[in-house]
Amino acid sequence: MKRVLKWAGYGLAGLAGVAAVAVGGGMAASEAMYRWPQAKPATRVVAATDPGAVARGQRLARAMGCNDCHGANLEGRMFDDIPNLATLYAPNLTRAVARQSDADLDRAIRHGVGSDGRPLWIMPSAAFADLKDAEMADLIAYLRSRPGSGPEQPHMKLGPIARVGIVLGQFHSEAAAIQAHENRQLPDLGPQYAAGRALARACVECHGFALEGSQSVLKTPDLGIAASYDREDFVRLLHTGVAAGDRKAGLMSDIAPRRFKGWSDAEIGRLHDYLKARATRQVAAAATEGVAKR
Ligand code: HEC
Ligand code: HEC
Repeated sequence: MKRVLKWAGYGLAGLAGVAAVAVGGGMAASEAMYRWPQAKPATRVVAATDPGAVARGQRLARAMGCNDCHGANLEGRMFDDIPNLATLYAPNLTRAVARQSDADLDRAIRHGVGSDGRPLWIMPSAAFADLKDAEMADLIAYLRSRPGSGPEQPHMKLGPIARVGIVLGQFHSEAAAIQAHENRQLPDLGPQYAAGRALARACVECHGFALEGSQSVLKTPDLGIAASYDREDFVRLLHTGVAAGDRKAGLMSDIAPRRFKGWSDAEIGRLHDYLKARATRQVAAAATEGVAKR
């Protein structure tokens, strides 16, 4: 979602460039950049076949928001239409899996490279780049478990503002974003927090690679804010979307019940412990810096 909104914010700023780029053959340039072939990353992921795989994959898909864009049945849909910017369709995954190998699917999901070797632009692959091989195996088992149904979706349509954004380097493909962030991972706070850290990957799409929050068009807080929540309120936020003090918290309130309702209290507790430990470390680091400056 962040990617979509990030593009949306470019709207007016980009307009000034539209005429210049249109005159200068921007249509062809943006088309070439949009389709620029990517190296196909190596992958050895194979769909899992054990009895629990499909259910685990489905749970992961829900937490990662796949269904928010690709639809409850993965049949795909038009999920955003912003005049002059783009009309966005998420592909019908029940049809895509029939044409694509497990490796193709992994490259799309974790590397941002389509089966035709072109970069993906809207699919938030950068937020999924850190999924483990075993998780991908479950996810692909789930995708393959759905019977083929519904029509193929059209490709997304780019408007003039999106083309200007691409030519001017304001919009980056997911493949490029992943390459640029290759070494950025969530802070590792030791084995006792590993389970909570794994769950926190579901927050990266909007709260950023290091959970530092985002000041772009979609404004999200640093997840240090979780330390100000007691356990009960934090569970309630993730299960129902109601923030501490009985507030509604924008997009967070909409997506939390859709994505995180299925998480147990114990899991949310481990996520909370991780976020609190991260906040404690931030405070300690800030204090040390303060001392050093004196
Ligand atoms: C913000 C909306 C959004 C979310 C969330 C999302 N996708 Fe996508 N996905 C897209 C769009 C749009 C495309 C089309 C290509 C592009 O972005 O350029 C796509 C493409 C794909 C493709 C390539 C399909 C093809 O026809 O080649 C696969 C596979 C895929 N998504 C799987 C997933 C999975 C699995 C998840 C969750 C882990 C997910 N997507 C989450 C929007 C989304
Ligand atoms: C699809 C985007 C999205 C995802 C994914 C997401 N968040 Fe948020 N979150 C937001 C936005 C936007 C806000 C700011 C809401 C507002 O306007 O007040 C927010 C706010 C919050 C807040 C502050 C609430 C308050 O008290 O105001 C917490 C805590 C939070 N998110 C936790 C999480 C956690 C934990 C995860 C992962 C399990 C997560 N979020 C995943 C978009 C998201």
